[in-house]
Amino acid sequence: MKFIPIIQLIALFCYCYYGVAQELQSPNGALKLLFSLEKKGRPTYQLDYKSQAVIKPSHLGLELKDAKALMDDFVLVGSKTKSFDETWTPVWGETKTIRNHYNELEVTLKQKRTERLLRLRFRLFDDGLGLRYEFPQQENLVYFVLKEERTQFAMAGDHTAFWLPGDYDTQEYDYTTSKLSEINEKFDAAVTENTSQRQFSKTGVQTALMLKTDTGLYINIHEAALLNYACMHLNLDEKHMTFESWLTPDSNGDKGYLQAPCKSPWRTVIVSDDARAILASNLTLNLNEPCAIEDTSWIKPIKYIGVWWEMITGKSSWSYTNELPSVQLGVTDYTKVTPNATHAATTKKVKDYIDFAAAHGFDAVLVEGWNEGWEDWFGNSKEDVFDFVTPYPDFDVEVLRDYAASKRVKLMMHHETSGATRNYERHMDKAYQFMNANGYNAVKSGYVGAIIPRGEYHYSQYTIKHYQYALEKAADYHIMVNAHEAVRPTGICRTYPNLIGNESARGTEYQAFGGSNVNHVTILPFTRLIGGPMDYTPGIFEMDIRVLNPNNTSHVNSTIANQLALYVTMYSPLQMAADLPEHYSAHKDAFQFIKDVGVDWDESLYLEAEPGAYVTVARKAKGTQDWFVGHVNGAATRSTDLKLDFLDQGKTYAATIYTDAANAHYKNNPKAYEISHQEVTNASHLKLTAVPGGGFAISIKAMP
Ligand code: NOJ
Ligand code: CA
Repeated sequence: MKFIPIIQLIALFCYCYYGVAQELQSPNGALKLLFSLEKKGRPTYQLDYKSQAVIKPSHLGLELKDAKALMDDFVLVGSKTKSFDETWTPVWGETKTIRNHYNELEVTLKQKRTERLLRLRFRLFDDGLGLRYEFPQQENLVYFVLKEERTQFAMAGDHTAFWLPGDYDTQEYDYTTSKLSEINEKFDAAVTENTSQRQFSKTGVQTALMLKTDTGLYINIHEAALLNYACMHLNLDEKHMTFESWLTPDSNGDKGYLQAPCKSPWRTVIVSDDARAILASNLTLNLNEPCAIEDTSWIKPIKYIGVWWEMITGKSSWSYTNELPSVQLGVTDYTKVTPNATHAATTKKVKDYIDFAAAHGFDAVLVEGWNEGWEDWFGNSKEDVFDFVTPYPDFDVEVLRDYAASKRVKLMMHHETSGATRNYERHMDKAYQFMNANGYNAVKSGYVGAIIPRGEYHYSQYTIKHYQYALEKAADYHIMVNAHEAVRPTGICRTYPNLIGNESARGTEYQAFGGSNVNHVTILPFTRLIGGPMDYTPGIFEMDIRVLNPNNTSHVNSTIANQLALYVTMYSPLQMAADLPEHYSAHKDAFQFIKDVGVDWDESLYLEAEPGAYVTVARKAKGTQDWFVGHVNGAATRSTDLKLDFLDQGKTYAATIYTDAANAHYKNNPKAYEISHQEVTNASHLKLTAVPGGGFAISIKAMP
């Protein structure tokens, strides 16, 4: 490792034409931040990478409701710099340890007319910038309401962007790839999801936003440590190519209720001339606080199967009965109605899944549709749909608890909240106690539909506080959380590692709802995964959904080799094998990779990457000498000469290589794969070809 002297921390005090300017460099000197107070005392920053502009001079500030904005009229009253270098050990992760190395500039500003203080903190890492607002304790600013945060990110050109429309309620979109100047014109076509309260600004996009410049710079804009604050979207001023923060409003249209002392989340800009460095960046995690949970021994990565895909595809149902259009919790007597023949969560079926999990080494079985209320769920935004503790008559909690325990398999709880956050909070203690009593140590929660209380959005401050409440309370009960439809993550799993997964993007379920873009999985690592792991639910082997449900003509836009690769390219300590047991039994040889692949890692190497085109990752499984490689490919056939030079010198390994067959294709021949075996060393090269929507997966096991 190159030694970088701390002396490279430069805080340059100078007086330029407009006022105070201060410069900060990253530890290796590649990134430079310039902070200044422009005329009228407006806080302004700019960021360069290897002398190229990443962020041109951009203003910082906030508008307040019924009070003078914190945007100008500032003087500098204090400034500090520091250097920080520490290595920490995550509870689970892509690497055994993580280095947190940055130079920091803290500036304290005073607004002349109001005497209010605002502090700005900048952290410059070798791979990017974090900046945030801090509101120190003071007499002239105590309780305040945000009208808008006005953080600008002025772009240096008309970059290529991989973007999602700025919906306040969902990220479950395919990405649109376009020039920044085309976002406006392509916006309406990009809006394909149909949430009931859709509202966003015309040119708003979501983060993490991935950009590529014409000169080959990769820039990623996101946020870190989103707690007690609204989620940030970005509005583009096309004329000036400038993004500005746009916070998710609450039901009154306000953007945040704050009380000093407090701080905003970090606004992050990850930058590199190498796309692989964006994927390898730990900046988002590093900007979060260390682990807040003292005893983490109960937090464990999970590989699981579930009574799930059959419902998603429409083969089976969540609901117990078709007889009742609506039910009343605690009053409706389910024993008096005829069960639906396709109800999936039966004791018998769940036992079969437990057997399959035990036979193939899975840690857990997720069961959805086990509890009363699903008759009311579809498309409804009702307050008291679920109580999270009352099973349907054909689901015997105690029998399954004992059966699962006897097979050393965990059952994974499912809480569909129906978006009713207060209803969930009211039932939460009892729901978590029920889990403790019945052997469940992880919950998949879900927030489908409009949020209740009405008018709140999935990404507003109110709802973000709810997700956090659910997470912290779960930690009290030693429960791991995998929240679907919650806000996209911002690295808070460092602080609360019981947040073992999130969906919060377009997952595999959409392959059963009409399909996803063929290059979707080559973009997600650059966008959604920047904030933390995703419960993407890979592992589909039967791509023709009509096989499961003749009325569902959807097609999974992926080959089997691509599905295998996802276990490596889509990092997550929680990985599902989502397809039905019988589809795995039909392809036992390919299924072997899913059984073997790790879920927790000592090392991760991003070997090849280009957003929208391909990603190749090698990971070394925790506590072993075994490596797993995954490569996902976009729309064009691609060959690669894969060097295995990351393997230990002098060691021989047994490689099992799962590739697309030459005639495979995601659309018309997705199940064609080949498996070969070979002894390899760190001098080996593998010449491999991936077809459109294809990929490859390799397990490399150290030989004794
Ligand atoms: C949407 C989730 O993403 C999916 O996994 C779940 O099965 C349904 N909601 C029902 O809760
Ligand atoms: Ca979802």
